Amino acid sequence: MGGPAAPGAPGRGPFPPSMMHDEPQVARDDVIKGTDDDAIISKLYAAQSAVNLGYLDDPFVKHFVKRPSRRPPLINRGSYLRTRSLDTFTEQFIKSDITQSSTTTATAPASATTLSASTPTSTTTATTTTPAAAAGIKKQIVSLGCGSDTRYFKFKAKGLSAHKYFEIDFPESTAKKAVVIKKNKAFTDIIGDPDLKLGLGGTELYSKDYCLLSGDLRDFTESIVPKLNAQGFDTSLPTLFLSECVLIYIQPGDSDAIVNWVGTNMDASLFVVYEQINPADAFGAMMLRNLRTRQIELPGIHAYPSLKSQEERFTSRGWQAAHAVNMNKLHESLSEQEMKRISSLEIFDEVEEWQLLADHYCVAWAYQAKPRQSELHRAQLIHLLANAVTS
Ligand SMILES: C[S@@+](CC[C@H](N)C(=O)[O-])C[C@H]1O[C@@H](n2cnc3c(N)ncnc32)[C@H](O)[C@@H]1O
Repeated sequence: MGGPAAPGAPGRGPFPPSMMHDEPQVARDDVIKGTDDDAIISKLYAAQSAVNLGYLDDPFVKHFVKRPSRRPPLINRGSYLRTRSLDTFTEQFIKSDITQSSTTTATAPASATTLSASTPTSTTTATTTTPAAAAGIKKQIVSLGCGSDTRYFKFKAKGLSAHKYFEIDFPESTAKKAVVIKKNKAFTDIIGDPDLKLGLGGTELYSKDYCLLSGDLRDFTESIVPKLNAQGFDTSLPTLFLSECVLIYIQPGDSDAIVNWVGTNMDASLFVVYEQINPADAFGAMMLRNLRTRQIELPGIHAYPSLKSQEERFTSRGWQAAHAVNMNKLHESLSEQEMKRISSLEIFDEVEEWQLLADHYCVAWAYQAKPRQSELHRAQLIHLLANAVTS
């Protein structure tokens, strides 16, 4: 999963006391800001390892990795699955269309979460939804706590892009990312906008379809929303919100405020969360202990510790559909052909350890469309969102 608490690194002896109670907020924030490029816990290093071995195709991630190193098979497989699952949602969202009969309801099949994103070796995409060019409706993507994620670039390079793609992170993170992007033709060519501009002391980037914004997600309504609006964010457009190992680092009151804002203000939105669950069993407790040794806390895990509570995070706030699955389920949903392909990349015999680890990570999705739309339009939007979570 490329995330914290790699198996094989069990808690060793007494761990340092949590920082959460006795250190100033700024010190805690510094630790969280480091989660994107911490070589042990980050997706970045695991993703590079998975790319080098052929699990994933991402020509952009190498520009963010200073010292690439091969990671254990377990981590490579986790990183592959994590990236592939969020890529699947992104791809299906970009391709989904509103064409439908007017009788569509809000019910998406609960078993719909399977992995169908393009494989590294394929030249065409593997999903069955409408091609992007045919999906004429404008859409937006917002990546919360984007870190060094390269999804915008990967997808646009394949001809798949949304009307607008916004990325948000702390200014320290966005400043580093902005430098890499701005100085590198591999990135600027994909953005393809001669008017690409740096802003706010080099912490932000603005272009026609890609904006990197700096700020604190805990001030979502007061500070992030005005920044989004200033860059052409449109609450009437279907919008995918991605939180890949992000909301879990934020106190539940603050992450709930984001979910509430999205649910209240967006006409049609799909929210996808990837994060840890099951903190209370032996493996979960070890996972949290290991993170504490790196002075990292996951305040969100106690508020949303199970698949059910991940779904209720949305359904209790009036979202029409929500579903959460653990990574074992996603692993099982890989096609025979894809399983064969990844199995050929390296020996993978840590099956029991894998199952334990995969039981502690989940993907949750939810969508909602507002009744203030005309009923036909609302049904069309729901069809679009349901398409994005069905393969
Ligand atoms: C574990 S990293 C994940 C990065 C990226 N989503 C990915 O999966 O590659 C968590 C990211 O969330 C960001 N983050 C955490 N809390 C945040 C906050 N309150 N405001 C803005 N960004 C935040 C961190 O700076 C970091 O880049």
